[in-house]
Amino acid sequence: MQRPRVLRAWRLWVPPGVAAAGDPVCHAMGMARLLIVHHTPSPGMQELFEAVRSGAENDEIEGVEVAARAALASTASDVLAADAVLLGTPANIGYMSGALKHFFDGAYYPCLNDTAGLAYGLYVHGNNDTAGAVRAVEQVTKGMGWERARPPVEVIGEVDRDARDACWELGAFMALAALGET
Ligand SMILES: Cc1cc2nc3c(=O)[nH]c(=O)nc-3n(C[C@H](O)[C@H](O)[C@H](O)COP(=O)(O)O)c2cc1C
Repeated sequence: MQRPRVLRAWRLWVPPGVAAAGDPVCHAMGMARLLIVHHTPSPGMQELFEAVRSGAENDEIEGVEVAARAALASTASDVLAADAVLLGTPANIGYMSGALKHFFDGAYYPCLNDTAGLAYGLYVHGNNDTAGAVRAVEQVTKGMGWERARPPVEVIGEVDRDARDACWELGAFMALAALGET
């Protein structure tokens, strides 16, 4: 589901020179923005991250700026500037990673009133069970009123071609979701 159109319109109303240099509005004037918030602590997670980013940035999709942020460095401001969010985490002790939880701890209340309806996607990797991590992310995003744009990509064990392809497709889909084209 798309974010309220008023937010998109507001972005277009900002006249040249009003937004400060470095402000996301400057970079994204007239562009949709997909935010990727990921925790990437291993080569396998790096492969999945690179696959979603490659899908999101593929040449077939125009008009979308992709902003990738490590979960430990991502802020509420990043979310408020986004038209869709793609989350990536390993399963850790039957939950999302502490890093992604840290992201939500900081973003939850500052975003609560302004991001209802925000489209999100999710990829999770685990050695044997990703269900708890998916459930945890779905609980917090439900609390924020975000809308799941597509079922999560859950990868168990070795990261293979199928896993990379599924993540690539998820990235492409979420870029379209940022455009409101899903
Ligand atoms: C502290 C810790 C807890 C973990 N807990 C789980 C878990 O509950 N379920 C699971 O499937 N994998 C678990 N794992 C494995 C990670 O999900 C896995 O290492 C991560 O997805 C990266 O995979 P890779 O090392 O093969 O790239 C855990 C790993 C660590 C370090």
